Amino acid sequence: MEYRISERIGQLHSSAVRDILKLTQGNEIISFAGGLPAEELFPLEAVRDAAARVFQKGSGSLQYGVTEGYLSLREQLCTRMAVKGMKVEPEQMILTTGSQQALDLLARVLTNPGDIVLVENPTYLSSLQVFSMHGLTVIPVESDKDGMIMESLEALLRQHRPAMIYVVPTFGNPTGRVWSLERRQGLLALSRQFGVPILEDDPYGDIRFDPQADYPTLYSLEGEADGGTVFYMGSFSKTVAPALRTGWAMGDRGIIGMLAKAKQASDLHSSTLDQQTVSELLTHFPLDDHIRKISAAYGSRMRQMEQLLLQRNWQDLTWVQPQGGMFLWLELPEGLDAEALLRAAVTKGVAFVPGAPFFAGTPKRNTARMNFTYTEGERMRQGIERFAEAVDEFLARC
Ligand SMILES: Cc1ncc(COP(=O)(O)O)c(C=O)c1O
Repeated sequence: MEYRISERIGQLHSSAVRDILKLTQGNEIISFAGGLPAEELFPLEAVRDAAARVFQKGSGSLQYGVTEGYLSLREQLCTRMAVKGMKVEPEQMILTTGSQQALDLLARVLTNPGDIVLVENPTYLSSLQVFSMHGLTVIPVESDKDGMIMESLEALLRQHRPAMIYVVPTFGNPTGRVWSLERRQGLLALSRQFGVPILEDDPYGDIRFDPQADYPTLYSLEGEADGGTVFYMGSFSKTVAPALRTGWAMGDRGIIGMLAKAKQASDLHSSTLDQQTVSELLTHFPLDDHIRKISAAYGSRMRQMEQLLLQRNWQDLTWVQPQGGMFLWLELPEGLDAEALLRAAVTKGVAFVPGAPFFAGTPKRNTARMNFTYTEGERMRQGIERFAEAVDEFLARC
């Protein structure tokens, strides 16, 4: 039959990049493309023990659960959040299927089709997909290495009266950038002045290469959830394992209640088994030690990638050294199209993500996102070698 397809899904283009990257699966391709944590660093034993403990308790973990999420885990999370200066009660928090679902639910509750959302430029690709699915118009705010530029933000707030502002202030995807304290405070002040909520997405904040570094979340700077402007999203995907699909959103309890209604309509609740496993893990496993361990490993992988790139002595290839997170954001020579470079790179056996799809407005085609967490050692060396061959051939042609 001829299917009638919704306009929303029709507008979601399958990107050329995704199509190229599909070709790389299962092949002998060294991939810097995915946002994947290092598999060999997953706390496998601890997750296995936690799951075993859940089953020892009986069959409750196989039952339906409450939409807001397993209460013990919410309570544990509230305690963890308090350590970071984030005051929150279980009623101000909902557990979600990854923070991706938190973003989707917030967009459902806080916007209507046709509304405007302001984002950093560039921004997290899958946030753009969520906003497109909800019929939102995305407007990028001019941004630099310290975050959104406040003059640009203020002008857009005045002009468009957007429904919300979406940001990843600490180790953003794709840029790895960290917002300065001044910009964080500026954003909060403007969002209050214009009455526009902020969605603070923070899946990478714990992955800091300098353990002493302190980047206060917008939520902690605001200090109050109820009636506040900030909705904070967190995730165990990068700190424990993405397959547990456990994330959360927190903020004003009235809005969190509405998220629960939206979630009920969507999937009733997230996996009880996964949530109870995470809860047992937090009880018996020193997660903060584990986070320090993976952060140190990722820091050294980032430095390895940086060294390998520096050895090539390319004049016009630049990046800002990330202080955490999972990505190195490359600016390639002006005029070089990273999508064409990807095609060449794939033939050499290496993949990365061209930067263009991360831009909501006019893309900078000479940009690329390189993941440094999934690969290490000799494999990383080989991957950068292949990448370099592709770049050199490209530069010779320019
Ligand atoms: C900025 C950002 N937000 C949200 C997510 C979604 O993460 P998850 O749903 O696994 O918690 C990701 C995943 O890569 C991300 O990079």
